[in-house]
Amino acid sequence: MRRPLIAGNWKMYKTITETRHLVSELVPGLQAVNGVEKAICPPFTALLAASALLEGTDIRLGAQNMHWESSGAYTGEISPMMLAELCHYVIIGHSERRTYFGETDETVNLKIRAALKQSLTPIFCVGETLRENEAGRTAEVVSRQVREGLKGVDLMLSGDFETELVIAYEPVWAIGTGKAATSEGANMVIKDIIRPALAEQYGVDLAQAVRVLYGGSVKAENAHEFFHAPDIDGALVGGASLKSADFIRIVQAAAKG
Ligand code: PGA
Repeated sequence: MRRPLIAGNWKMYKTITETRHLVSELVPGLQAVNGVEKAICPPFTALLAASALLEGTDIRLGAQNMHWESSGAYTGEISPMMLAELCHYVIIGHSERRTYFGETDETVNLKIRAALKQSLTPIFCVGETLRENEAGRTAEVVSRQVREGLKGVDLMLSGDFETELVIAYEPVWAIGTGKAATSEGANMVIKDIIRPALAEQYGVDLAQAVRVLYGGSVKAENAHEFFHAPDIDGALVGGASLKSADFIRIVQAAAKG
């Protein structure tokens, strides 16, 4: 059984003060929901404040990016070793990083390896652009991203049958556009493209154990549709994770399955 995970990707929103407000609003509502794993990924500057407020809760903390080296002369970068003191998760290869900051399958691969070495769980993002989708290239693009991102990466099943990796299928055309994929469409990509690509490298058992989230315009209003789909194990939520009432409703929807 894969336990659903709802992760909030706050992107470049929220100061430390705003983070304190939002986290205080989130904690009681999220703590009241059982059977769902919850995580928030604030910007780097707010991680420490968020981590203090999350102490003693079951809400996990994630970062949105990192460098792959442990330390060094890389002005402006944050290392996996630094994040390991604060975070459980780290988002890797988000399409905004690929589009605006030149991330490639190769750098994504380096980051996934580095995260695992520090016992950070990557939330590894894959997804096709609108152009690729319309050209019928979804399978080719997404399976390549999975294969190249995980090249040479050893994965293991833990005692509770979860892996130390989460994948997020985020079609680029659905991110921040208000135009979500259909749950059938997203389920199909996960079942017929992502899990088979994992099975090829790691075998069927592990491919079935990896949690694969859907991301792209998930809102309180449409969330429940995704959680009915058998191969969708939760959501990576952008815009709707910035409003406590909306994020709590999405987590509640995941608890109902
Ligand atoms: P969105 O973003 O929910 O605002 O579409 C999702 C994401 O970028 O992870």
